[in-house]
Amino acid sequence: MMKIKIFIRFFILGFFIYMMFNCAPEKPEPVRVCSIADNEFDPEEWGKVYPHNYESWLKTKEPKPTGRSKFRKGWDTDEVIYDRLSEYPFSALLYNGWGFGIEYNEPRGHYYAIIDQIEIDPSRTSPGGVCLACKTPYHKSFTEKHGMTYLTAKFNNALEMLPEKNRELGPACIDCHKPADMTLTTNRLHIEKGLKMIGKNNLSRQELRVIACAQCHMTYYVPRDENGKVAGDVRPPWEGSSWGNISIENIINDLLSDFQREEWTQKTTGFRMPYIRHPEFELFSKSSVHWNARVACADCHMPYTRVGSYKISDHNVTSPIKANFKACIQCHTESADWLEKQVFAIQDRIASLIIRAGYATATDAILFEIVHNEQKKGLNLSQALYEKSKYFYKNAFLRLVFISSENSTGFHNPSEAGRILGDAIAFAGKTESLLRQMLAQGGIQVPEKINLNLLKYLNHRGIKKLKFKKDQQVKDPYNLQENFSNTL
Ligand code: HEC
Ligand code: HEC
Ligand code: HEC
Ligand code: HEC
Repeated sequence: MMKIKIFIRFFILGFFIYMMFNCAPEKPEPVRVCSIADNEFDPEEWGKVYPHNYESWLKTKEPKPTGRSKFRKGWDTDEVIYDRLSEYPFSALLYNGWGFGIEYNEPRGHYYAIIDQIEIDPSRTSPGGVCLACKTPYHKSFTEKHGMTYLTAKFNNALEMLPEKNRELGPACIDCHKPADMTLTTNRLHIEKGLKMIGKNNLSRQELRVIACAQCHMTYYVPRDENGKVAGDVRPPWEGSSWGNISIENIINDLLSDFQREEWTQKTTGFRMPYIRHPEFELFSKSSVHWNARVACADCHMPYTRVGSYKISDHNVTSPIKANFKACIQCHTESADWLEKQVFAIQDRIASLIIRAGYATATDAILFEIVHNEQKKGLNLSQALYEKSKYFYKNAFLRLVFISSENSTGFHNPSEAGRILGDAIAFAGKTESLLRQMLAQGGIQVPEKINLNLLKYLNHRGIKKLKFKKDQQVKDPYNLQENFSNTL
């Protein structure tokens, strides 16, 4: 009897020893979840518990490989900062009148979110504290606590209100994670409002892997009062939209519904105008192939990666091309070369359409300038035709801005991007013919090819006297634009 008991004891002990050695992680281990104090903003503190994720998050500071991405050259090892206005020269004319027409750079890593705001021409941050909306993790709590004092404070003063140590902190752990259990979340009032507007209540884990990014990579406007002064926190133009269907048509209807959405005055036309910023979420979620297949932003921009014996989500968020298509290959069996060809083929077509729509809209702006000058000299126009052409023009402009300020050069939703730009070209073409008709009726001659004089808008910009950088200009991939307008 005794011998059997001893045998069983040894057997059990042996079994545990065997299990201990055999369960040593051969397969990568998921990171264990521990609790972090509520309201802990400082990533360094989070890093004490999650060192691998923290290290990987810090890498958004590092420049990315040069020469990989064709259209999204951000902060690469060549350390060149790419100027959007030189890339697409017509935009210097179209944005002339406010900060975006002065200095507008390609995005770089999350680490630079606030640093870039500090370094950019001050016209870009003139609205004040409200500009910190998709930058500082303190935006929500400061808006709740200090309201308009914070939102309308001069940009530098608003920045000084933030705790000194984390004043230059961009997207942080607390923006995307609940400290208690690390589940995904958001940290912006505008996305909470936006989701309510489109009637979306519960978010699945996969939806949170989109919304954690969408809280900043979505569009919003800075509401204005009658005098053009900032009237509150940023708001999404999502009236009339629904989950998976925030269409450009709905966005434009919302943006053209009242003066609160008109943020600036376009110099060439004199029109008060709305604007559309970084609508990655809106374009992607409008029935793209990947959205319909339930692929999330994090699937492509934060692929699983192995660090030592752990499996973590890569927090070094960047272009998937600069990360060697690692994310894509987790689903696609094709090679990185094949995938690169697909992406560039899509982006070439979209860039070409952006160029076509851009010059057509800029041509309209100059025609409006001619019309306005002639009106001052006494030209009498059909008011109905004039209002119609103004409405068409804004429709062309907002569609163009939607796709060109979206940061994937169409990849996030190629067919929708093509549709929108096709319509932008149609609206711009119709505007041109209406304006020419009005001018002809008034006996005013205008040349067949309108000279855009873009260097006038591209050189001597802002306090840095920025100049056109010819080597950065994105050339029409199909070489057709010269048929329709000069490209400078
Ligand atoms: C708190 C706001 C915020 C959140 C949350 C956020 N971003 Fe960003 N993102 C930014 C800002 C601001 C920039 C531009 C930074 C700059 O240029 O200074 C940026 C830049 C980027 C870039 C360009 C990086 C490069 O190397 O060129 C990518 C890609 C990106 N974000 C993807 C994502 C994804 C994917 C998510 C979700 C996992 C996400 N972002 C969440 C604000 C945010
Ligand atoms: C199917 C994969 C995929 C999904 C899903 C995806 N992206 Fe992208 N994203 C890309 C690719 C590819 C590019 C183009 C990169 C390039 O041209 O270098 C890109 C570009 C970007 C850029 C610009 C990067 C830069 O360096 O300028 C941002 C910002 C971005 N995506 C954010 C998002 C957000 C936010 C979501 C979700 C709403 C999302 N992406 C969903 C693949 C994806
Ligand atoms: C822009 C959003 C964003 C930021 C900022 C962010 N994370 Fe994450 N994190 C994610 C996403 C998305 C996942 C994947 C979670 C999922 O699928 O449930 C993730 C996953 C994790 C996980 C689970 C293990 C893993 O890697 O999948 C840990 C731990 C983590 N993050 C820690 C951190 C820490 C620490 C910071 C700050 C230094 C941070 N995260 C900043 C979006 C973010
Ligand atoms: C989570 C899985 C997943 C990831 C990650 C993913 N894809 Fe896809 N992709 C799909 C699915 C599913 C489809 C649609 C079904 C199909 O035809 O394969 C698709 C379709 C495509 C298509 C054809 C449709 C179109 O829109 O033109 C291309 C090109 C493509 N993916 C490229 C990429 C690239 C590049 C990446 C990385 C940046 C990527 N995918 C990442 C799942 C994924």
